[in-house]
Amino acid sequence: MTRVLITGGTVLDQTGERRADVAVDPASGRIADVAPALAPSDGDVVLDATGCFVSPGFVDLHVHLREPGKEEAETIETGSRGAALGGFTAVVAMPNTDPAHDSVAVVEFVRAQGERAGLCEVLPSGCITVGRAGERLAPFGELAGAGVRLFTDDGNGVQDPLLMRRALEYAGPLGITLAQHCETSALTKGAVMHEGACCSHLGLPGWPALAEELMLFRDIELVRLTGVGMHFLHLSTARSVELVRAAKADGLPVTAEAAPHHFTLTDEMLTGYDPLFKVNPPLRTRADIDALKAGLADGTIDAIATDHAPHAPHTKELPLDQAPPGMLGLETALALAISELDMPPAAVVAALSWKPAAIAGVADRHGRPVAVGEPANLALFDPSHEWTVSAAGMASKSRNTPYGGRTVRGKVRHTIFRGHPVVVDGHATR
Ligand code: DOR
Repeated sequence: MTRVLITGGTVLDQTGERRADVAVDPASGRIADVAPALAPSDGDVVLDATGCFVSPGFVDLHVHLREPGKEEAETIETGSRGAALGGFTAVVAMPNTDPAHDSVAVVEFVRAQGERAGLCEVLPSGCITVGRAGERLAPFGELAGAGVRLFTDDGNGVQDPLLMRRALEYAGPLGITLAQHCETSALTKGAVMHEGACCSHLGLPGWPALAEELMLFRDIELVRLTGVGMHFLHLSTARSVELVRAAKADGLPVTAEAAPHHFTLTDEMLTGYDPLFKVNPPLRTRADIDALKAGLADGTIDAIATDHAPHAPHTKELPLDQAPPGMLGLETALALAISELDMPPAAVVAALSWKPAAIAGVADRHGRPVAVGEPANLALFDPSHEWTVSAAGMASKSRNTPYGGRTVRGKVRHTIFRGHPVVVDGHATR
């Protein structure tokens, strides 16, 4: 293969939109040419991008790949394949594996498995505390030395405010980013779904919005105190959006993400007691959805992150109170964003690509402009392609999508990773 030639598309990156063909050199993994019309040479692999945007590949700040420890639900290979099919060229792997990401050995294993799969860049997160137990800090220095940029105990919030303060004080000089799963666990014991009218009606234990907002408020104040920035994972409530908006207005170095399920589904989905709709934080109300959408539209929420959380069928088939929380997200994120958010394509791609790339610390190679010499990590998607979500058709080892049977708009046609087409015409090549 001499070159990959992308023809007929519209380039969309942080510099704007323009009609252009793009030539990629697989040997160097870089963009070789960008011009209004490029003629194919012998041996070129031609990818038709007619009707597509050609954008920098997406970066997911929040995926659970389950390996090591729960390979029956997902492996780094199957999760990376789902990522590539969703247009992602980099994903941050959450640390709640078994063992957790609190040692160099584990993060190096995760990264190596990602390299072996070769479908996208797998960026291991590091734990904030050893074993995510919330008691003592993980070895930040060693993990940072092994290339970890984002630290989180995701799945758990760090409950102890002093420990969180110390974590920030260590993180600052190391130049790493802490990402908080905001959940005050004393308020969520036994909780199954959002605390509100629907949960009272169903007679289920409620998960108050305050459980999230209290920790978010505390951590914003810790950012103010220490001057060290923080990222907030999967915002789910209207008040959370207000808190982050106010923090940004105060000039605090905070960033935030929202997951597609939180801006597309309400707690009313739980009326059938179906564990497919159980997630942490829980699905909230229409007013929360409206606030999340407004937060994404005005940039209060920087990134769309999937919180892709595969669970093996036998676990998701347990009764609602026993089933684990979480939903698949990688293959539906773009379509849900295009279908449900009242945002121009450039703003959707910003939230999926260059903004999360900066938060993940990979803006040197992901979310780059589509220009000569840049790393060729690209997503080519048709914003008007309608398709119907099928759980059985997904690359994941698990089937727990809440969107099965839903018709959505916007589909990834091709994904280029390090100059190689890893998805062609909607099919993974590896
Ligand atoms: O719904 C969720 N599932 N939220 C989390 O924070 C953890 C995740 C998981 O690991 O399944």
